[in-house]
Amino acid sequence: MSTETTSLLDVRSAVLTRRSIRKYKKDPIPEDTLREMLDLAQKAPSAWNLQPWRVVVVRDQATKEALKEASFGQAHVAEAPVVLVIYSDMRDTLENLDQVIHPGVHGERREAQKAGILKAFEGKSSEALEAWGAGQTYIYLGFLMLIVRAYGYDSVPMLGFDPGRVKAILDLPEHVAIPALLPIGLRDEEGFSHHRLPIDRVTRWH
Ligand SMILES: Cc1cc2nc3c(=O)[nH]c(=O)nc-3n(C[C@H](O)[C@H](O)[C@H](O)COP(=O)(O)O)c2cc1C
Repeated sequence: MSTETTSLLDVRSAVLTRRSIRKYKKDPIPEDTLREMLDLAQKAPSAWNLQPWRVVVVRDQATKEALKEASFGQAHVAEAPVVLVIYSDMRDTLENLDQVIHPGVHGERREAQKAGILKAFEGKSSEALEAWGAGQTYIYLGFLMLIVRAYGYDSVPMLGFDPGRVKAILDLPEHVAIPALLPIGLRDEEGFSHHRLPIDRVTRWH
């Protein structure tokens, strides 16, 4: 299966049919499909193109059970066939700037770009760095949720977990931030219909 040949929902349908799903069928998600979805989400934009998000793909049942306990018992964490643990690692990002600067930028321009980025983050605490990285990572999360839906799967973004326990379970470095867990799978419930503020409540036109 390749992204070019798979039939996907269009953006409008993906937006309108995505909702938080908290009951999942047991069907596994093929690894090829997971890779395609992650590959598309990787096209999400980020400031300076830093791409500070990192993902742990959890399919192992015992690990999902442990994550459920770290998520105050939220059952969908153990029930969904896959849980994506989405975190930000700015330390790794800033130590490997050559990986994210465009290969078309060479020589002095390249060095100047690196220096400029490092200067922008100079003196920031680890917490401030990862808070910034988490902001970028939420853009990635938004892309990912719509991509998952476009492939016919569902998800629920989650902040209800103890980050220290999640880091311990997955052996993640202490300094990282975890903006979300994302259980994904085939829906086994309809979920709630959308309830949203009207655009005039959240928008001003000039
Ligand atoms: C950052 C974030 C954290 C959330 N945390 C949880 C959570 O821990 N558990 C849960 O069941 N839903 C969680 N939700 C889902 C929201 O309740 C849901 O997105 C919102 O009510 C809108 O409903 P919808 O997603 O069905 O459109 C979270 C959503 C976001 C965006």
